[in-house]
Amino acid sequence: MVISPSILSADFSKLGDEIISLEKNGADWIHVDVMDGCFVPNISFGQPVIKSIRKVTNIPFDVHLMIDEPIRYIDDFAKCGSDIITFHLEAAEEPIKVIEKIKSVGKKPSVSIKPATKAEDVLPYIKDVFMVLVMTVEPGFGGQKFNSFMLPKIRTIREAAKKENPKLFIEVDGGLNEKTSKICKEAGADVIVAGSYVFKAEDRAEAINSLR
Ligand code: DX5
Ligand code: ZN
Repeated sequence: MVISPSILSADFSKLGDEIISLEKNGADWIHVDVMDGCFVPNISFGQPVIKSIRKVTNIPFDVHLMIDEPIRYIDDFAKCGSDIITFHLEAAEEPIKVIEKIKSVGKKPSVSIKPATKAEDVLPYIKDVFMVLVMTVEPGFGGQKFNSFMLPKIRTIREAAKKENPKLFIEVDGGLNEKTSKICKEAGADVIVAGSYVFKAEDRAEAINSLR
């Protein structure tokens, strides 16, 4: 299992230290939530912040773009230090062009679906991507409750990936804790994003371990 804590729940006044602490406590990747206030009803942060935090660590940055027409910003997010770039299927007019663009700048392409989007809609792309991100809450805010209706989607994608892309990573994001991560793992997920669960914990190493 890959554990990718989300810095959306971090203390932004000491973001560099927060990231170093996550790395020391066992994080494999850092999940970076970018929100534009259009695709989702919230605004977070963008390239300048990623550029700054890139200086403190070499840990992979798993950048989750919750923005409209992501193709406009792939160059920028590649330059500022992203490693995996996830865009939303619902936000892209031509998803395959976004995937190709991400590959052309040497980054790992990933595509995400919101709770209302069917697994079948993403299946045509699984052979071309590094990862699929299944949102288990409506994107936009941390601290929401996990939606178990998303489990069959994970199973469908994993089943299809066996043939089409056996190395595909399936990431889940939203309401993950030690219980919900276990059921996602059983359904076929292998990357766990967790924001509030890790940041609320007194012992971050223990929290990260329990997700694994
Ligand atoms: C929500 C973001 C998530 C968020 C998860 O739109 O994509 O990554 O930080 O937060 P928790 O783990 O608190 O649900
Ligand atoms: Zn996210």
